[in-house]
Amino acid sequence: IQVTYLTHDGVAHSVELKPGQSVMEGAVRNNIPGIDADCGGACACATCHVYVDPDWLEKTGGPSAMEESMLDFAEGVQPNSRLSCQIKASEPLNGLLVRLPESQG
Ligand code: FES
Repeated sequence: IQVTYLTHDGVAHSVELKPGQSVMEGAVRNNIPGIDADCGGACACATCHVYVDPDWLEKTGGPSAMEESMLDFAEGVQPNSRLSCQIKASEPLNGLLVRLPESQG
């Protein structure tokens, strides 16, 4: 399952994720700058904030209530903001594009 991470300075990193791996894990394992993931994926730090490409929003869906309350701690939140540890790779998300916020760069 391919996921592309676009850093705030415009560099695209494409990586292969296994089903069930989170978009956060994919970035951390591949040393993609811009995702800190301080809490290790527990939906408790908001440093894995990403912007889902608008074309993919329907497939990823929106944040859960818990995720939404964590997003209050992230900077520059937009309607397409998600915490990447809460997006799990699955076949329908093959080709997913996310942008990384400048504040985590
Ligand atoms: Fe901490 Fe996602 S890694 S909220």
